[in-house]
Amino acid sequence: MDLPSLLICILLEVVAVKCQHIVQERIVGGYAPVPHSIKYIVSIQTRDRQHFCGGFLINKYWIVSAAHCNIGVHKMLIVAGDYSLTIYEGTEQEILPHLVVPHPAYNSTTNNSDIMLIKLRAPIYLNSYVSIALLPRQDATISEGRVCRVSGWGYTSPSGSQIPSTLRTVKLPIISSGKCNSSESFNGSITENMLCAGYSIGGKDACQGDSGGPLVCDGRVYGVVSWGRGCADAQFPGVYTAVSKFRRWIDNTIFSYYSRCNKF
Ligand SMILES: *[C@@H]1O[C@H](CO)[C@@H](O)[C@H](O)[C@H]1NC(C)=O
Ligand SMILES: *[C@@H]1O[C@H](CO)[C@@H](O)[C@H](O)[C@H]1NC(C)=O
Ligand SMILES: *[C@@H]1O[C@H](CO)[C@@H](O)[C@H](O)[C@H]1NC(C)=O
Ligand SMILES: *[C@@H]1O[C@H](CO)[C@@H](O)[C@H](O)[C@H]1NC(C)=O
Repeated sequence: MDLPSLLICILLEVVAVKCQHIVQERIVGGYAPVPHSIKYIVSIQTRDRQHFCGGFLINKYWIVSAAHCNIGVHKMLIVAGDYSLTIYEGTEQEILPHLVVPHPAYNSTTNNSDIMLIKLRAPIYLNSYVSIALLPRQDATISEGRVCRVSGWGYTSPSGSQIPSTLRTVKLPIISSGKCNSSESFNGSITENMLCAGYSIGGKDACQGDSGGPLVCDGRVYGVVSWGRGCADAQFPGVYTAVSKFRRWIDNTIFSYYSRCNKF
């Protein structure tokens, strides 16, 4: 992107006009939520503070994200309580991860089981800017047409420079797995561990850099931003890891590390 179009784009963003063809790599077609109203979301960054994925807090020590966001525990930094990534707001809490637990069945070819737990070195302090997200019960379903909300900071362009970015959010309906898995769409690539959400006319979606972030329906995180084809394409909705398929794994994993700590 050249400088003039970047500037035009920022300007358009300021007057809240969609600038989809240029800012493709962020939540597409969404809006900026009230600052600090989405308190469970975290930014996952490199140690030199480049945002690359989202995640969400499920308790003071644990974050859920996508397995494909695993760049190695020693390269990651977790930021909670953030809104603008470029402005210091005094509400941020930066914590290093202690360990990462990508799902053992994660397959980067099929994208199946794209979920990861991150344990923090120190507990996050819960306050009016940071809280925890609720999860659905094991195997809880969410029906087609239910409107959910996905949030994230999007990403820099593949070539580099980051647009000053505040959190974005967009509301999307659930699309049935049947429709999403059909030959008109993902043609057999959707597993029972995935959820699809988006509009059949396209225009609204999560996008690269939103990966790992929460899709919230009825006050619980039913989806983790996982993959797609392009962004906001009418034919291809966003694909999310179905959190309810992993609720037992999440609880068991957290419990196993908890008991291990207590033994020593
Ligand atoms: C991933 O899935 C593909 C297709 O089912 C399979 O061929 C491959 O062995 C799997 N990879 C791993 C690491 O399990
Ligand atoms: C897995 O996700 C990538 C995008 O991250 C996509 O290009 C690829 O087609 C997906 N794999 C399958 C088997 O659908
Ligand atoms: C869908 O998948 C089937 C079986 O894998 C394949 O034969 C067909 O060509 C695919 N259709 C499209 C539109 O890609
Ligand atoms: C999607 O289609 C493939 C191929 O037909 C099938 O194996 C898979 O179980 C389907 N997924 C769901 C969620 O039904």
